[in-house]
Amino acid sequence: MENVFVLDHPLLQHKISLLRDKNTGPKEFRELVEEIALLEGYEATRDLPLKQVQVETPLGVADTNVIAGSKLAVVPILRAGLGMVDGILKLVPAAKVGHLGLYRDPQTKEPVEYYAKLPVDIDRREVLVLDPMLATGNTACAVVDNLKKRGVKKIKMMYIIATQEGLENLHNQHPDIKVYCGAVDRTLNEDAYIVPGLGDAGDRIFGTK
Ligand code: URA
Repeated sequence: MENVFVLDHPLLQHKISLLRDKNTGPKEFRELVEEIALLEGYEATRDLPLKQVQVETPLGVADTNVIAGSKLAVVPILRAGLGMVDGILKLVPAAKVGHLGLYRDPQTKEPVEYYAKLPVDIDRREVLVLDPMLATGNTACAVVDNLKKRGVKKIKMMYIIATQEGLENLHNQHPDIKVYCGAVDRTLNEDAYIVPGLGDAGDRIFGTK
């Protein structure tokens, strides 16, 4: 699928294996989620535009490159996406951070937004959406719809584990959006959890179960 990137760096793969282990406790789980976000962020920022500058070194003038003022916003989906924020901010410390919260309506099964606090100039920023798990893809589609309605033109979605179903759902509705993940798992159970996955990412990050 065009625009879907399954990242296969050995460090990333190793850390995802540790993350999946049911014996990994919240402290290590949090650290791993942050490290994985950083490694994925390295790939997801690969196409940031550069501009040439001159820098005076102690020995002369270097023709060198800096990021060409492309403004980034990081948007974690509450609550598990919060675990990925610091990994991205280590790479891009000047990025603004917005928050989006959605829940699934028990009747319609559709995602409903309950919280949104985004940078005022979100429509002029490239947005990296953070969520560890892409299950059905319904939340992802709602998030992209939401951001596009707010005028955002460039959106990248970052996940740790996805399903084929979720990737296809998102890709069919938003083929223009780039999606990054570290693994694609085989299935979803009746509660829409990814199997084998890693369990409930929010509970494991925050130790709530
Ligand atoms: N959210 C999670 O935290 N885990 C899943 O397996 C699916 C969605």
